[in-house]
Amino acid sequence: MERALDGIRILDMTHVQSGPSATQILAWLGADVIKVELPGRGDVTRQQLRDLPGVDSLYFTMLNCNKRSLTLNTKTDKGKVIFTRLLESCDVIVENFAPGALARQGFGWETIHEINPRIVYASIKGFGPGPYEDLKVYENVAQCTGGSASTTGFDDGPPVVTGAQIGDSGSGIHCVAGILAALIQRQKTGRGQRVEVAMQDAVLNLCRVKLRDQQRLAHGPLKEYPQYPGGTFGRATPRAGHASGGGQPGWCVKTRGDGPNDYIYIVLQPQGWEPFMKLIGREEMIGHPDYATPEARLPHLDDCFAMIEEWTRTKDKFEVMDILTGHNIPCGPILDMKDLLEDESLAARGTVVEVEHPERGVFKTVGNPIKLSDSPVEVTTSPLLGEHTEEILKDLVGYDDAEIEAARADGAI
Ligand SMILES: CC(C)(COP(=O)(O)OP(=O)(O)OC[C@H]1O[C@@H](n2cnc3c(N)ncnc32)[C@H](O)[C@@H]1OP(=O)(O)O)[C@@H](O)C(=O)NCCC(=O)NCCS
Repeated sequence: MERALDGIRILDMTHVQSGPSATQILAWLGADVIKVELPGRGDVTRQQLRDLPGVDSLYFTMLNCNKRSLTLNTKTDKGKVIFTRLLESCDVIVENFAPGALARQGFGWETIHEINPRIVYASIKGFGPGPYEDLKVYENVAQCTGGSASTTGFDDGPPVVTGAQIGDSGSGIHCVAGILAALIQRQKTGRGQRVEVAMQDAVLNLCRVKLRDQQRLAHGPLKEYPQYPGGTFGRATPRAGHASGGGQPGWCVKTRGDGPNDYIYIVLQPQGWEPFMKLIGREEMIGHPDYATPEARLPHLDDCFAMIEEWTRTKDKFEVMDILTGHNIPCGPILDMKDLLEDESLAARGTVVEVEHPERGVFKTVGNPIKLSDSPVEVTTSPLLGEHTEEILKDLVGYDDAEIEAARADGAI
């Protein structure tokens, strides 16, 4: 069966997480992704956080499925010739080197556009143009500079970074959107264009509701958010603990058990109050003047969730979920990574998949989270370093065995 991006070839100069997460999605959507790696070393993550000696790490294998690997040193003369030919035959180049790295090698946007006016050039950097544009950036730097850390955690504690990789994989998915839009525009114009994603911008985009609150809360006392009504607004959007970012109060309450994740998140919609109070045997709260309406409950939300917690502590989180779901009350148990790795429904829909790797054997990974009805995804292994160098040089660059040997002797591949 055809896939959405069949016929699109990506020159993947990415490394670590942000860029590879983008090109892996493109590969799952059907693109031919050629990962360019430094000869003898490859993407640094091949060797980072290894769980098996001498075998590509899960860090690498889980971000580079369905790609081909070509080793190429683009700083050598022969490497530059090969790279130029590849630019001519690809639809997209994606890179997330430190700012200016590709231009220092002689491949700035103008040169790339001149070599192949149809190519889309996507890059991910820590910051956009401005005072920080030259900085190297990793995930948590982006979380801290994009607004996430200042708004995560509890109001009486320090800023907290989140486990979701919103700086890296969040930027990756923004990059995918930009590349797809540029490819569609190219169908009309025949021209490629630059797609620039700054990790700070991507994180701020994901923190949009917090920027909303910065402007909203400055207008008066803290109503509704972060569930400290009557409090005064300081300088900036405060950390909200478990409070929901939307208009409905929500909180994480304890369930039965001693585990660190024996909790469930519960959202109190206005229509949920009556069934909830009946369920936990607190009917007197339904018409109580301090609790009967959402506005009346606002100053008492701590009490509301304390009442609810008294009940949830008597059951495990899955029982609570079953019961609340039966009453149409939004809730979500805290699932840990072991729960998710073993979840049958995630496996059944290909969100958690098993992949056979030639050296490590079977490993599990997160499959394509974007499901298309006409573009099936089969998740295949990440490539070994340079596994496809010869076939790519023959097919796309037109090299014969002697030319490949010469490039190897020069350290270009
Ligand atoms: C992630 C990051 C901090 C890593 O920094 P780093 O390990 O020092 O790696 P760099 O990107 O600086 O690359 C190191 C060098 O290898 C070179 N290089 C990498 N692959 C190469 C190849 N195939 N051929 C030749 N040179 C290569 C680069 O050109 C660079 O050379 P230079 O220092 O002479 O300019 C940095 O790449 C960065 O800020 N990237 C943008 C933001 C980003 O994506 N961050 C999140 C990563 S998950």
